[in-house]
Amino acid sequence: MAAAAVNSSSIASKQAPIVNDYSLRIHSDSHSFRSLSFSSQLQSLSLSVKNTGSKRVSYSHELSVVVRAERSSDSMEVDISLSPRVNSVKPSKTVAITDQATALAQAGVPVIRLAAGEPDFDTPSVIAEAGINAIREGYTRYTPNAGTMELRSAICHKLKEENGLSYTPDQILVSNGAKQSILQAVLAVCSPGDEVLIPAPFWVSYPEMARLADANPVVLPTRISENFLLDPKLLESKLNEKSRLLILCSPSNPTGSVYPHNLLEEIARIVAKHPRLLVLSDEIYEHIIYSPATHTSFASLPGMWDRTLTVNGFSKAFAMTGWRLGYIAGPTHFVSACNKIQSQFTSGASSISQKAAVAALGLGYAGGEAVSIMVKAFRERRDFLVKSFGELNGVKISEPQGAFYLFLDFSSYYGVEVDGFGLISGSESLCRYLLDKAQVALVPGDAFGDDTCIRISYAAALSTLQAAVERIRKALVHIKSAVPV
Ligand SMILES: Cc1ncc(COP(=O)(O)O)c(C=O)c1O
Repeated sequence: MAAAAVNSSSIASKQAPIVNDYSLRIHSDSHSFRSLSFSSQLQSLSLSVKNTGSKRVSYSHELSVVVRAERSSDSMEVDISLSPRVNSVKPSKTVAITDQATALAQAGVPVIRLAAGEPDFDTPSVIAEAGINAIREGYTRYTPNAGTMELRSAICHKLKEENGLSYTPDQILVSNGAKQSILQAVLAVCSPGDEVLIPAPFWVSYPEMARLADANPVVLPTRISENFLLDPKLLESKLNEKSRLLILCSPSNPTGSVYPHNLLEEIARIVAKHPRLLVLSDEIYEHIIYSPATHTSFASLPGMWDRTLTVNGFSKAFAMTGWRLGYIAGPTHFVSACNKIQSQFTSGASSISQKAAVAALGLGYAGGEAVSIMVKAFRERRDFLVKSFGELNGVKISEPQGAFYLFLDFSSYYGVEVDGFGLISGSESLCRYLLDKAQVALVPGDAFGDDTCIRISYAAALSTLQAAVERIRKALVHIKSAVPV
């Protein structure tokens, strides 16, 4: 016998192929379905849906589903233990909340989804056409592991023109998304017990990637009053012979902070004193930046080229999240090591996406007009949200200078007991409350290493953001009214 717990969204996605082969019965009443059962000659499978008192199925995070698979013939015990590596890694909360919000939306709840980290725009048509043409022209075979020479040459050209960085194509490795580029770099340079320094708030995957490499994440907290920028003195105080990798992300997910040139220079001077220390500079939001802020590539700073691994990609600026394409640029020795890992892991990225990426880089400086139209829209939305939340009592803001996130300090709402919900104890319960009460999906700050805040993604139409702010405002009134006066 095998038993597994799944959430409601996985009924549709993961179990659907099985359902086709089985007879399906749904037992329901007027408000909610209570159980599902499947049967076939070989196997019987039953799903029971437990409604924990909520009147509507729509609050699906309150539902739990148990799947039991029973073999009618002889059963075999299976060792279901997992590797310590898997057990040390936390699942991504952004993915979890996005899935939960999607499940609610599919169940008919009008959820406003502001949790996902992807642009709401379509891939610009010139890029999409290049992908379509690649398929039509039969450009559908494996490419070299490191990426096509055409794309790597175009990336070298971009890095030279836009970032002042000189690389040759053998110093570029194209991967299935910047996420893969980062993980491979961490795996390539970290040894067990090494320390990976990560300013917080951080992108959710950095500490987990360090753990996957048997390295130890060392979190360097920052303050909202300092625009979430790393204090060089704090960095200096944490460096030792185990320090192997400093991960910088500018513009930042989740805060939208952009590191000014002079602060990066100060950080570079500290880094230069530690021969073992490398820097991974995640520049994936480089083009989504609001003037007067400007982007500096860390590798362009004096003495930093030799020890910097620059990561970038196509997902954010070019609205190409589903094309899965990112890259790393760095000294040959390190990039070759990443290349070796990739050759035994996934091989080269999609041939079709690489053709599309060449077209993206052909759009002109910083993505040309197609990208600047999107950046203009992001800026308008940022301005709207900063103004709206600025008018809300008890919310602290650091105005983002890039990316498409707002990281707001809501901690003044913590510690309050709300009728019919319970205690708002931190960012996670506040997000659950806002999902229940306002039907707005946001990501708790604790996922990013800062429980005082919650993250709002403004990759959504202005009208959607206006509706979201209105709903959040109304829902927060209930929390405040619960505060004794
Ligand atoms: C800071 C940061 N780096 C890297 C990535 C990975 O991007 P992708 O794998 O889609 O290229 C993301 C995506 O959310 C991100 O926010």
